[in-house]
Amino acid sequence: MSDKWLELNKASWNERAPIHVRSSMYDLDAFKAGRTTLVNGELDAIGDVTGKELVHLQCHFGLDTLSWARAGAKVTGLDFSETAIAAARELAAEVGVEAEFVVSNVYDAPTVLGRQYDIVYTGIGAICWLPDIDAWARVMADLVKPGGEFYFVEFHPIEWIWDEHLKPGDERLTPAYDYFTPKEGLALHEAGSYANPNAVTEHNDTVQWNHGLGDVVTALIKAGLRITELTEHDTHMVKGWDFLEEAGNGLYRMPADRTNLPFMYTLRAVKE
Ligand SMILES: C[S@@+](CC[C@H](N)C(=O)[O-])C[C@H]1O[C@@H](n2cnc3c(N)ncnc32)[C@H](O)[C@@H]1O
Repeated sequence: MSDKWLELNKASWNERAPIHVRSSMYDLDAFKAGRTTLVNGELDAIGDVTGKELVHLQCHFGLDTLSWARAGAKVTGLDFSETAIAAARELAAEVGVEAEFVVSNVYDAPTVLGRQYDIVYTGIGAICWLPDIDAWARVMADLVKPGGEFYFVEFHPIEWIWDEHLKPGDERLTPAYDYFTPKEGLALHEAGSYANPNAVTEHNDTVQWNHGLGDVVTALIKAGLRITELTEHDTHMVKGWDFLEEAGNGLYRMPADRTNLPFMYTLRAVKE
């Protein structure tokens, strides 16, 4: 496969990271005032991370990475977007939190970082940018210390299939995209960004993949990790449809009179 996906996706993310830093969705002021962005149960699930070495892959401009640092972990964030990493470094300095931020393609992380971690954390819109889920799983496994943990929170792959252009009053969600993405990926064209749909953008072509639960689980098992948990959540971090209701903690869920659906999932695994 050519590296065209990498070039397109990177240009798109480099343009969008500064837009996200300024967006109300990412709400930097609340973060600076001390709010954690880890809202999917991570902190309760993992428990005390004081002094634990944690790497956050595809860390964007570092909010989750720095939230882990505020919880006591020694953190490294990695992302292929230079603008995102520059913003993350600036933010870490501004809030006075110690963190290392590294620019790299996630597939090169083991070589670039050259070490292993107690906790490998990733997700929330991460794997849809990656063509090869088996290679990704090998990277995750490589980065976990023996006795360490892989912690993954991701949008549920069923999310991928729905028509996002629902009209007001539409009663049913309509499937519009294949669940199984072809190997070459799906070429998408979209101006703006989920965090600011009205932003004027130039780099609007991306290539994305929906990786099904079976593929993700099997890839991680083949990579040598032992899966300890796979939980599907009915809460969503994004209010993708107007009819979603607030579920607390900045999350949303289906109203009771609509078909219930999984929106996200958590997967935990250990390296023995
Ligand atoms: C949706 S964001 C992750 C969101 C993050 N959890 C947050 O909201 O702060 C996806 C991130 O993946 C990064 N990314 C995409 N493909 C990558 C790759 N091949 N290697 C490293 N980073 C990549 C993008 O630059 C972007 O920062």
